[in-house]
Amino acid sequence: MKVDLIIRHAADVDTECLVIPAIDKGEKDKPAGSVLTAEKALQDAAKDLFASGELTGKPLEFALLYRPAGVKARRVLLVGGGKEAKFTPNDLRKIAGLAARQLKAKNIRELAIALPSGVHFHPDNAVRAAVIGAVIGDFDPDTYKSDRKDQRLNSLTIVAPPGSDEKLLHSAIEEGRIIGESQNFARELVNEPGNRLTPTILAERARKMAAENGLDCEVLGADQIKALKMGAFWSVAQGSDEPPACIILKYSPAGAPAQPILGLVGKAITFDTGGISIKPADGMEKMKYDMAGGAAMLGTMRAIAQLKPKVKVNAVICASENMPSGKAQKPGDVQIAMSGKSIEIINTDAEGRLVLADGLTYARTKLGCTHLVDAATLTGACVVALGMVNAGIFANDDSMYERFQKASHQGGEKLWRLPLDDEYRDIIKSNIADIMNSGGRYGGAVTAAMFLKEFVEDKPWIHLDIAGTAWIDDAKPFIAKGPSGVAVRSLIEFVRSFETHP
Ligand code: BES
Ligand code: MN
Ligand code: ZN
Repeated sequence: MKVDLIIRHAADVDTECLVIPAIDKGEKDKPAGSVLTAEKALQDAAKDLFASGELTGKPLEFALLYRPAGVKARRVLLVGGGKEAKFTPNDLRKIAGLAARQLKAKNIRELAIALPSGVHFHPDNAVRAAVIGAVIGDFDPDTYKSDRKDQRLNSLTIVAPPGSDEKLLHSAIEEGRIIGESQNFARELVNEPGNRLTPTILAERARKMAAENGLDCEVLGADQIKALKMGAFWSVAQGSDEPPACIILKYSPAGAPAQPILGLVGKAITFDTGGISIKPADGMEKMKYDMAGGAAMLGTMRAIAQLKPKVKVNAVICASENMPSGKAQKPGDVQIAMSGKSIEIINTDAEGRLVLADGLTYARTKLGCTHLVDAATLTGACVVALGMVNAGIFANDDSMYERFQKASHQGGEKLWRLPLDDEYRDIIKSNIADIMNSGGRYGGAVTAAMFLKEFVEDKPWIHLDIAGTAWIDDAKPFIAKGPSGVAVRSLIEFVRSFETHP
């Protein structure tokens, strides 16, 4: 999709469809004027709709007008934005996403989005959000449909009022495009089925992305994983005929301070059968998305390489299948992790924490990472606790938590903090080893996080459990069903926050 900026009155823009955010100003006595639209001609065009009560400005309510008088566009799509006082760039992102999806469905390939007037945030934030929303809305998961038409949008134009700062808005467009496309890059990977995205293929994709974006990339294979004594990672990989891949990406820009060195560690189980503790057949096909944490880290690194903040960032993506076989590990086995800790395997389906344990140790001891963040589709228990609305966030450091919380707010992603009290540690005590890999059903998201905490030592650390949010079961007006690309936007903002607030 081509993205352009035009500085002009919205009514004078020649386009297939002009999208106008309709924001409720809350003037009850004046229905026609109570919705903020860009200009008089557009207000006139929409007057009857507002007067009839068919459009009130409620979030994501919409109406399509054809060739309204005084407006150059062939169509005008009015999309509700909710109350003016509560309107944020994230609402505009959803409006843009809805517009993209509505128009695609009608085979309209070109749209122009007018910046809302009179809102209380800066126009560059509005522009960035609108571009992200449209790029994300343009994604569909129909990769392997043989009748798949090229249904991508051709062009998006951002319409800013006369007097706007062209240079500032141009760079906001560019940022929005980078962020949206990087989230879609993660979604494309997550969408791939297990037979078409093995650890080896994921590593190839990572290599290609790194080469295109000037990142260092190194891939450790089975022999190196064993040589590094990554016994927890290998215990998962040993059961599969497909070799594992530990993908390491480095972003080290000139002029960045020596520290911090951020470490992004992602779980990338390209298919999780559960192993010998095999999962039930029902719904098992969804376990192709068990690499969404790793994909989020790849999407984030892609964006960081293009946005170029002056902060060092490394990523470690632990890619493996989790399969049952004659070579697979068994419940009761004891494994020695790279850190030297011994682990009693209670359930081979608790494999994510095993690969991450060694990924975190590698980031800390081999890459010198000073701050760690991991993302993983780690537990069904997190889905039970938070559903598909919030991702779970855990932190061993309050200031890291606050930084991430702010970043997620900017990115418009929902997270809910879950606890890490010492008492939970007792649940994963083992009789034979230092720790067990499962504490059973109760508090399952927390005991999984407690397990990971054993491997971060003293480093400030964030753990994101995205099991419930990485896959969208029901389409929303602004995003297709399928892979969500969750965590990419928050992670990008988190990394960038170290440039402004070291
Ligand atoms: N990949 C799953 C977690 C998962 C469940 C992700 C549902 C997405 C949706 C993970 O590897 C797993 O199987 N976890 C087990 C842990 C248990 C055996 C302690 C779980 O949550 O049941
Ligand atoms: Mn599992
Ligand atoms: Zn898993």
